Amino acid sequence: MVREVLRYPHPALKQVAHAARDAAEIARVSADLVDTMDAFGHCVGLAATQLGERARIVVVDVSGHRKATSSNGRLVLVDPRIVRAEGAEVGREGCLSIPELTANVRRATTIEVEADGRRFRSEGVRGALPAARDRPPRRPALPRPRGLPHCGRVQAGKSALMRAIVIDEWGGPEALHEADVEAPPVGPDFVLIRNRAAGVNPVDTKIREGGLAGAFPSGFPLILGWDAAGTVEKVGPAVTMFRPGDEVFAYCRRHHLQYGTYGEFTSVPDAFVAHKPEGLSWEEAAALPLAGLTAHQALETLGVRGGEELLISGGAGGVGHLAVALAVGRGAHVIATASPANHDFLRGLGADPLDYHDPDLPARVRELAGDGGADAALDLFGGDGREQAFAGLRRGGRLASIASPPPEPREGYETHYVFVRPSGVDLGELAELVDDGHLKPRVEEVFPLERAADAHERIEGGHVRGKLVLSVP
Ligand SMILES: NC(=O)c1ccc[n+]([C@@H]2O[C@H](COP(=O)([O-])OP(=O)(O)OC[C@H]3O[C@@H](n4cnc5c(N)ncnc54)[C@H](OP(=O)(O)O)[C@@H]3O)[C@@H](O)[C@H]2O)c1
Repeated sequence: MVREVLRYPHPALKQVAHAARDAAEIARVSADLVDTMDAFGHCVGLAATQLGERARIVVVDVSGHRKATSSNGRLVLVDPRIVRAEGAEVGREGCLSIPELTANVRRATTIEVEADGRRFRSEGVRGALPAARDRPPRRPALPRPRGLPHCGRVQAGKSALMRAIVIDEWGGPEALHEADVEAPPVGPDFVLIRNRAAGVNPVDTKIREGGLAGAFPSGFPLILGWDAAGTVEKVGPAVTMFRPGDEVFAYCRRHHLQYGTYGEFTSVPDAFVAHKPEGLSWEEAAALPLAGLTAHQALETLGVRGGEELLISGGAGGVGHLAVALAVGRGAHVIATASPANHDFLRGLGADPLDYHDPDLPARVRELAGDGGADAALDLFGGDGREQAFAGLRRGGRLASIASPPPEPREGYETHYVFVRPSGVDLGELAELVDDGHLKPRVEEVFPLERAADAHERIEGGHVRGKLVLSVP
């Protein structure tokens, strides 16, 4: 069964395999065992068995809003169309055959694992696997580079070193400093990127402070940063979609916090990478991955359609301005909140702006959206903004939030929490929108790499219009 699945070496299936590996990681399954079981059903089933009483696994099929849940370490599939996990108890209609498994694995979008009081939300897949005839032609085999790539200063007999901005302990912006560190390892399905620019995101500051230390394992010296744009320096032996010299960009979230993008090189699974749109500078390309994927995946979750009224609570920042542009591109009427200084910026993106300080904001939303209120709302900052968003929604409306804590279910509304997933497939869709002239990230300021601390102070101020980016020499 596992071998059959492996006949489909598409990034989407790899993502599922990674997700399953994550599930198994939480179950503390032997890494060797997991590495040999590179298939979603098998690994999740294995994880379910290993987790025993402590875990609950949820496979979410967003297209059908059905869920498969496990308890007592047995994976019980509520909707047997989703996937059969080997070694697990199967739902009402019994086992699925190989073709059904591969067909339905495309539909699994998210895997959540709760274990030992922690919740893990995996990368999943969305969209169909391309039919064989639609797949991009396989690139001819390239001569494989020998040994380590040339990464900055290489010392005889030692590992390749590179320049990076690191922290040696959790702390404020002053904890960031330059250092020569070992270049990141490149796994079989990894791409080594020579960074030209690195995006700065609010999450970088949270990681710097140790705010994600409980959620991700980490190692010091720790290179921050999850957004990269640059050229491919080297690929692992299993990589077929990229080759040295390709211009790429990627949301490089790794499950182990150590090898980020604030440095000369970063390595990342090939499934997270896409070719850079030609029309974007390195800085613009590095501004797009995390924020663009968040905006795109949140709008997908909301199912925003042309003709709908969408309220975006927080429209001028990194995620917000891209969400406005994407929703306008879908044909929605967008009402977006910001302070008055950003209203012309929002108008330029095609939105009707409102001031989030206005105590009568829900009434203003109704004036613009019609008496019933907005069909859908995207909440980027939580707190009062989330309450204003609920108050501006029509009865039965949908709200998706990216802000913590996740929204509680609320009677009369559909609520979602979105945690961005790395996805080369989704990035490719964004790149097409850029190429077609429908999307362009706004870069407010570019800082040289060594001024990363200034960029952190700036983003912690909370009022960046668009994105901040580090240029990498
Ligand atoms: N769940 C996820 O996967 C995920 C992914 C990405 C980001 N996030 C989180 O989402 C939030 C937004 O991320 P970001 O990258 O867009 O941040 P950002 O670029 O730093 O946002 C800056 C913008 O936020 C606006 N703003 C600040 N407070 C606001 C409020 N109360 N209401 C409306 N607008 C407000 C500011 O507009 P004004 O200057 O006009 O006030 C500014 O333009 C962050 O907390 C981030 O950590 C979560």
